[in-house]
Amino acid sequence: MEMTKTNPLSNFLCKFKNIPVINHFQKGTKEPTTDTVKEKDRKHSEKDEEAVVRMTGITCWFGNLIANQNINFHLAKGEIHALLGENGAGKTTLMSILYGLYQPESGDIYIRGEPVDIKSPLDAIDLGIAMVHQHFLLTLPHTVTENIIVGLKSSRGIFLDTGKAEKKILELSKKYGLEVDPRAIVGNLSVGEQQRVEIIKALYREIDILILDEPTSMLTPREEEGLFAALRLMVKQGLSIIFITHKLHEVMAVSTRVTILRNGKVIGTVNSSETSESDLAKLMMGHSVVQQVGDRGHGCGEGEAREKTETILRIEDVTALNNSKIPSLSGLSLELRKGEIMGIVGVDGNGQSELAEVISGLRKVEKGHIIMAGRSIENLSPRKIREWGLAYVPEDLLATGLILEYSIAQNLILDRWYQKPYSGRLFLKEHEIRRFAEKAISDFDIRSATGIDSPVRTMSGGNMQKVVLARELSRKPKVLVAHNPTRGLDIGATEYIHTQLIAQKESGVGVLLLSLDLEEILSISDRIAVIYEGKIMGVFEKDVADTDKIGLLIGGNLSKSGLQPKPPP
Ligand SMILES: Nc1ncnc2c1ncn2[C@@H]1O[C@H](COP(=O)(O)OP(=O)(O)OP(=O)(O)O)[C@@H](O)[C@H]1O
Ligand SMILES: [Mg+2]
Repeated sequence: MEMTKTNPLSNFLCKFKNIPVINHFQKGTKEPTTDTVKEKDRKHSEKDEEAVVRMTGITCWFGNLIANQNINFHLAKGEIHALLGENGAGKTTLMSILYGLYQPESGDIYIRGEPVDIKSPLDAIDLGIAMVHQHFLLTLPHTVTENIIVGLKSSRGIFLDTGKAEKKILELSKKYGLEVDPRAIVGNLSVGEQQRVEIIKALYREIDILILDEPTSMLTPREEEGLFAALRLMVKQGLSIIFITHKLHEVMAVSTRVTILRNGKVIGTVNSSETSESDLAKLMMGHSVVQQVGDRGHGCGEGEAREKTETILRIEDVTALNNSKIPSLSGLSLELRKGEIMGIVGVDGNGQSELAEVISGLRKVEKGHIIMAGRSIENLSPRKIREWGLAYVPEDLLATGLILEYSIAQNLILDRWYQKPYSGRLFLKEHEIRRFAEKAISDFDIRSATGIDSPVRTMSGGNMQKVVLARELSRKPKVLVAHNPTRGLDIGATEYIHTQLIAQKESGVGVLLLSLDLEEILSISDRIAVIYEGKIMGVFEKDVADTDKIGLLIGGNLSKSGLQPKPPP
């Protein structure tokens, strides 16, 4: 394909991601290439009357980076179509084009057979298309209802009829099994609940084409099942769904067809029932999947050595309140040893976030003590705690992990700009900062349009996560608290992070891993602690851990598990 030259407006667009823009682009040639699209898909796309969405020859540049290259994509009515690809493959870009957030340099879009020009999300919604973003766009201080009706014409009067809106929200919630409380304040909801609000917000607009961008990355397995059930109900009711993911099991579990993107190009479209996880992995990555990190001999024989290692973080009887001033840690005690990964499992909202926040100094400890490497750290400033040896990968990186307007390099030194070698007498030492940033980018394979100077907000979701990880893992910490560290990362990047966490522990760091992904915890932890209603219910050595029993404890069910919670060490 002939490459078009850089369009200055796409550079401009980079800076204004998510702001609707007007289409100034010349439409280019519209010839779709068929060389990479599989025969099956071509046959399918011939049935035009069935295509609710058809995108042909879509090309989109950001600066010198081609995010979508001559893409053909077609969504049939009533299907769940997975869009699969590694971090930075171009999935969000393609769907942002369909939702009117970006204008492609070339290509055409047809909705129900009609050519359309989608200039903004308002146009998209008028055409019956809604998108739930990878990072939610809710306003936290407002109620669920306010968030759902904001921007609607019907809600523009002086008096809001919230009663009517609440009723409609409850009806939708019931219809699709998406439980939400219309009066709850969004900031007090778990991520899973917030996501349900986003989906109901879309359905409230009576759309029939729903785009979900990595909807499961923050869900527990149970919530994930709930979401899949809701999606199946939606397609039965006539909706058509595009489901962005890089998790293969989700493609197999929920989709009808799957389109694979790699480096901005379509590799193929296949029927999900006629493929396998390993075939998909090959298509997605261009090679077969390598060995699971967790299986790489760690553990055996190390157990005894670990027994003898000292405690690096001791949490004693800690009580803390959540944002609604309700106790969310109720006398929690835990000991993390040097050179181990301790995984914390539990249903979202049982105190995981508060636990991570009291350790990192972001939440007040009401009662109890936290001792890191022999020093009391409770209620110290986050900066002090970090200087004394903590690294922290927060759950919500957009709120606490990154400054979106800053460049990658600036985000990488957010925690150390005032220290040597980055700070000179009067000025920051630019070359030291650049050297550090270049190394981090290459070590972590952080991809962006213009290298270390790219504003973080122009990066793909997975690449943003890599920036936080690169900064935190390079701190040489004593304790690393990692909350959902592989959220939004593809298989390759997840594996890399797991290897890094193992390397940290092998160098003596105590790693506290909080994750909703039980598989992740089981694959790399040495010990597993179950959290329930702000308390630790039991601590298990990984080698003897029984997933059924852990599952029961996660639900707070002690008697059925036949276990007594182990008293805190
Ligand atoms: N607004 C933007 N400005 C500049 N570059 C961008 C912008 N949005 C995306 N990109 C770049 O385009 C490429 C594709 O990004 P996109 O967000 O579509 O990836 P993705 O497949 O959704 O990845 P992920 O799984 O990590 O979310 C990436 O290299 C990204 O850095
Ligand atoms: Mg994305």
